[in-house]
Amino acid sequence: LDNGVGRTPPMGWNSWNTFGCNISESLIRQMADAMVSTGMRDAGYQYVVVDDCWFNPSRDSAGNLQGDPTRFPSGMKALGDYLHGKGLKFGLYEGPLDKTCAQYFNSYPGATGSQGHEAQDARQFAAWGVDYLKYDWCSPTGTINDQVATFAKMRDALAATGRPILYSINSNSVHAKTGPQRNWGDVANIWRTTEDIQLSWDTGQTNGYPMGIKNIVDVTVPLAGYAKPGGFNDPDMMEVGRGTLSDAEQRSHFALWAVMASPLIAGNDIRSMSSATLTILKNTRLIAINQDSLGLQASSIVADSNQRVLAKRLANDDVAVALFNQSSSTRTISTTASAIGKGGSSFTLVDTWTGAATTTSGTITASVPAHATVVYRVSGGTTGNPPTPTSGTLVSASS
Ligand code: GLA
Repeated sequence: LDNGVGRTPPMGWNSWNTFGCNISESLIRQMADAMVSTGMRDAGYQYVVVDDCWFNPSRDSAGNLQGDPTRFPSGMKALGDYLHGKGLKFGLYEGPLDKTCAQYFNSYPGATGSQGHEAQDARQFAAWGVDYLKYDWCSPTGTINDQVATFAKMRDALAATGRPILYSINSNSVHAKTGPQRNWGDVANIWRTTEDIQLSWDTGQTNGYPMGIKNIVDVTVPLAGYAKPGGFNDPDMMEVGRGTLSDAEQRSHFALWAVMASPLIAGNDIRSMSSATLTILKNTRLIAINQDSLGLQASSIVADSNQRVLAKRLANDDVAVALFNQSSSTRTISTTASAIGKGGSSFTLVDTWTGAATTTSGTITASVPAHATVVYRVSGGTTGNPPTPTSGTLVSASS
C-alpha cells in the first residue's frame, strides 16, 4: 500500500501473545519504558501495539470508541502521548465487523467493531495519535470479496484522516487457512499469512489451526513474490523469549522472519527477558537484512524435508543466505554463489550470529545443528542473475 509508511517491515512489540486481554495503561507504559532501557527502541523496534480488549464495551453517546475506563483511566490519547514522548509509535487493535476477536471468541463484552463506523473510528484513531492499526476479521463467515471491500473501506478511511497510519490486516478466520492466498498489497501494509502462531515448533499441519514456527515458514516462503516496500507478508508476532522452544529454534524463528522480510513484532514480556532472548531480538546484522530498503522477501533456492536454503538480495548487491536445518540431527547444508545470483570467484561470508568473516571462491556451506539456521551475508563478486521470488497462487478479487 502506497501510504508512505511500512516501506520496510514494521518492528515493535504487541501485547497479545503474553498478556491477552490482561492489559492496562500501566502495563503498556512499563513495556514502553523497557523498550527504551533494553535498547530495543534504538535497535529499531518502534511500534508498541495494544491488541484486543483495550476498549470500553460500549461506545459513548456520540458513537465514539473509548478506552476501558478502569484499565486505561488516562485515556488513549494520553497513552499515545506517553509513547510518543519515549520516541515510540502507538499501535491499536480493532476489527472490521461488529465484534473484535475477543468479543467473538473470548466473551469480552460488547460489540464495538468498526462496522458502520469506519470514518468515525479512523478519525478517532488519528486524534489519539495512532500510528499503526491492526484490523482483524473475526468471523468464520464472509467471502474473499466481502473481505477485500471491507478492508478497503478502512484503508480509505485512514487515508482520509491525513495521518500516516500503518495498516495491518488479518483476513485469516475466513480465508488463507489453506491458500491460495491473496496479495493484499493494494489494501494493506502487512497481511497475515496464517492463523495465530502457536508456541510450538511443528504441529504437523500447514493450514488452519494450530501451526508452529516451521509450519508458518512453509506457508509464507512461497508468497515471496508479494513482498515489496509498503507491503509485506505477516507470519504473525514472534514467540521468541516465551519458553518451550529451544535456543536453536528461537534463533531460527528470528533469522527466518528476518530474511522473509516479515514484521519483527516481539510478543514476549520484555520487562523480564533473559539476556539470551535480548541477544536474539537485538541481532543488528539480521535486523539490517530484514530492514533492507529493497524490501525483498528471500527466494527459495532449495526446499526439501531436511533443509531449506533461502536467498534475499540486498540494496548494496550483497545477498543474505539462510541455511535452515529442518531435520533432527546436525547436517552440512551447502549452496553456491552462482545459485544465489552472484558472478565472480571471490566472496566474503559474514556469519550474522557470530560476526565471523570467511572467504570463499563460490561454495557456501555450514554445519548446522538440528532446527538451527545459519545466515551469511555474502558480499563481493558481481550481481549476475539474482533469484526471482516466486509467488503462491493469486486469488483475484480486486479492491
Ligand atoms: C486474533 C488475532 C490475534 C489477536 C487476537 C485478539 O486471534 O489473530 O493476533 O489479535 O485475535 O483477540
